Amino acid sequence: MREETRLGVAFASVLLSSHAAGDAPFGVLVDADGAAETYGVCIACHSEKIIAQQGLSRAAWDELLDWMVEEHGMANIQGPVRDRILDYLAQHYGEDRPNYSPD
Ligand code: HEC
Repeated sequence: MREETRLGVAFASVLLSSHAAGDAPFGVLVDADGAAETYGVCIACHSEKIIAQQGLSRAAWDELLDWMVEEHGMANIQGPVRDRILDYLAQHYGEDRPNYSPD
Protein backbone atom coordinates (compact mmCIF):
# COMPACT_ATOMS: atom_id res chain seq x y z
CA MET A 1 0.00 0.00 0.00
CA ARG A 2 1.34 3.42 -0.86
CA GLU A 3 2.08 5.72 2.02
CA GLU A 4 -0.50 8.32 0.93
CA THR A 5 -3.21 5.67 0.72
CA ARG A 6 -2.44 4.39 4.17
CA LEU A 7 -2.58 7.89 5.60
CA GLY A 8 -5.86 8.50 3.80
CA VAL A 9 -7.40 5.37 5.28
CA ALA A 10 -6.17 6.25 8.77
CA PHE A 11 -7.56 9.76 8.46
CA ALA A 12 -10.93 8.51 7.25
CA SER A 13 -11.28 6.10 10.14
CA VAL A 14 -10.45 8.84 12.64
CA LEU A 15 -13.21 10.98 11.12
CA LEU A 16 -15.69 8.11 11.25
CA SER A 17 -14.93 7.13 14.81
CA SER A 18 -15.01 10.71 16.12
CA HIS A 19 -18.40 11.08 14.47
CA ALA A 20 -19.71 7.92 16.09
CA ALA A 21 -18.39 8.88 19.53
CA GLY A 22 -19.09 11.98 21.62
CA ASP A 23 -19.60 14.63 18.95
CA ALA A 24 -23.16 13.84 18.01
CA PRO A 25 -24.92 12.34 21.02
CA PHE A 26 -28.26 12.39 19.23
CA GLY A 27 -27.17 11.09 15.85
CA VAL A 28 -28.07 13.53 13.09
CA LEU A 29 -30.43 15.43 15.40
CA VAL A 30 -29.29 18.86 16.49
CA ASP A 31 -28.00 18.87 20.06
CA ALA A 32 -30.33 21.37 21.72
CA ASP A 33 -32.98 21.67 24.39
CA GLY A 34 -35.41 18.78 23.98
CA ALA A 35 -33.09 16.65 21.86
CA ALA A 36 -32.60 14.08 24.61
CA GLU A 37 -36.33 13.53 25.04
CA THR A 38 -36.95 13.40 21.31
CA TYR A 39 -34.10 11.02 20.66
CA GLY A 40 -34.97 8.85 23.64
CA VAL A 41 -38.60 8.41 22.62
CA CYS A 42 -38.40 8.33 18.85
CA ILE A 43 -35.35 6.20 18.28
CA ALA A 44 -37.01 3.14 19.78
CA CYS A 45 -38.50 2.18 16.41
CA HIS A 46 -36.64 3.94 13.64
CA SER A 47 -33.68 6.04 12.72
CA GLU A 48 -33.64 9.67 13.78
CA LYS A 49 -32.85 10.43 10.15
CA ILE A 50 -36.48 10.10 9.13
CA ILE A 51 -37.24 12.81 11.69
CA ALA A 52 -34.47 15.09 10.45
CA GLN A 53 -35.81 14.80 6.91
CA GLN A 54 -39.19 16.23 7.87
CA GLY A 55 -40.07 19.88 8.09
CA LEU A 56 -43.39 20.40 9.82
CA SER A 57 -45.22 23.01 11.84
CA ARG A 58 -45.75 22.37 15.54
CA ALA A 59 -49.38 21.45 14.88
CA ALA A 60 -48.37 19.01 12.16
CA TRP A 61 -45.76 17.44 14.44
CA ASP A 62 -48.47 17.14 17.07
CA GLU A 63 -50.62 15.22 14.60
CA LEU A 64 -47.70 13.10 13.53
CA LEU A 65 -47.12 12.09 17.15
CA ASP A 66 -50.79 11.08 17.41
CA TRP A 67 -50.30 9.04 14.26
CA MET A 68 -47.22 7.35 15.77
CA VAL A 69 -49.39 6.39 18.74
CA GLU A 70 -52.43 5.26 16.82
CA GLU A 71 -50.81 3.50 13.90
CA HIS A 72 -47.42 2.46 15.17
CA GLY A 73 -47.92 1.80 18.87
CA MET A 74 -45.79 4.60 20.24
CA ALA A 75 -46.36 5.40 23.92
CA ASN A 76 -48.92 8.18 24.23
CA ILE A 77 -46.70 10.90 25.64
CA GLN A 78 -48.50 13.89 27.07
CA GLY A 79 -47.71 16.84 29.34
CA PRO A 80 -44.35 18.58 29.66
CA VAL A 81 -42.36 15.90 27.84
CA ARG A 82 -44.61 16.13 24.80
CA ASP A 83 -44.30 19.92 24.91
CA ARG A 84 -40.53 19.71 24.99
CA ILE A 85 -40.48 17.30 22.08
CA LEU A 86 -42.88 19.43 20.04
CA ASP A 87 -41.00 22.63 20.82
CA TYR A 88 -37.78 20.97 19.78
CA LEU A 89 -39.20 19.53 16.57
CA ALA A 90 -40.96 22.75 15.56
CA GLN A 91 -37.89 24.85 16.24
CA HIS A 92 -35.30 22.65 14.59
CA TYR A 93 -37.38 20.70 12.07
CA GLY A 94 -39.99 23.31 11.24
CA GLU A 95 -41.48 24.22 7.90
CA ASP A 96 -38.40 26.19 6.90
CA ARG A 97 -36.35 23.05 7.61
CA PRO A 98 -33.37 24.80 9.16
CA ASN A 99 -31.67 21.52 9.89
CA TYR A 100 -32.78 19.51 6.90
CA SER A 101 -30.24 16.91 5.98
CA PRO A 102 -30.62 14.72 2.91
CA ASP A 103 -28.47 12.01 4.51
C1 HEC B 1 -43.49 2.42 18.50
C2 HEC B 1 -42.68 2.70 17.34
C3 HEC B 1 -42.42 4.14 16.95
C4 HEC B 1 -42.03 5.18 17.76
C5 HEC B 1 -41.70 5.17 19.23
C6 HEC B 1 -41.91 6.33 16.89
N1 HEC B 1 -42.20 5.99 15.60
FE1 HEC B 1 -42.13 7.21 13.98
N2 HEC B 1 -42.62 5.68 12.76
C7 HEC B 1 -42.87 4.37 13.18
C8 HEC B 1 -43.17 3.55 12.03
C9 HEC B 1 -43.49 2.05 12.07
C10 HEC B 1 -43.08 4.41 10.91
C11 HEC B 1 -43.35 4.08 9.45
C12 HEC B 1 -42.36 3.13 8.91
C13 HEC B 1 -41.06 3.77 8.61
O1 HEC B 1 -41.05 4.71 7.80
O2 HEC B 1 -40.03 3.33 9.17
C14 HEC B 1 -42.72 5.71 11.39
C15 HEC B 1 -42.50 6.82 10.60
C16 HEC B 1 -42.15 8.08 11.05
C17 HEC B 1 -41.94 9.25 10.21
C18 HEC B 1 -42.00 9.28 8.69
C19 HEC B 1 -43.37 9.71 8.30
C20 HEC B 1 -43.50 9.80 6.82
O3 HEC B 1 -44.40 10.56 6.38
O4 HEC B 1 -42.75 9.16 6.10
C21 HEC B 1 -41.63 10.29 11.02
C22 HEC B 1 -41.33 11.73 10.63
C23 HEC B 1 -41.66 9.78 12.38
N3 HEC B 1 -41.98 8.45 12.35
C24 HEC B 1 -41.42 10.55 13.49
C25 HEC B 1 -41.40 10.07 14.79
C26 HEC B 1 -41.13 10.89 15.94
C27 HEC B 1 -40.85 12.38 15.92
C28 HEC B 1 -41.16 10.06 17.02
C29 HEC B 1 -40.96 10.43 18.47
C30 HEC B 1 -41.82 11.44 19.01
C31 HEC B 1 -41.46 8.71 16.53
N4 HEC B 1 -41.60 8.76 15.17
C32 HEC B 1 -41.56 7.60 17.34
C33 HEC B 1 -42.85 3.92 14.48
C34 HEC B 1 -42.52 4.66 15.59
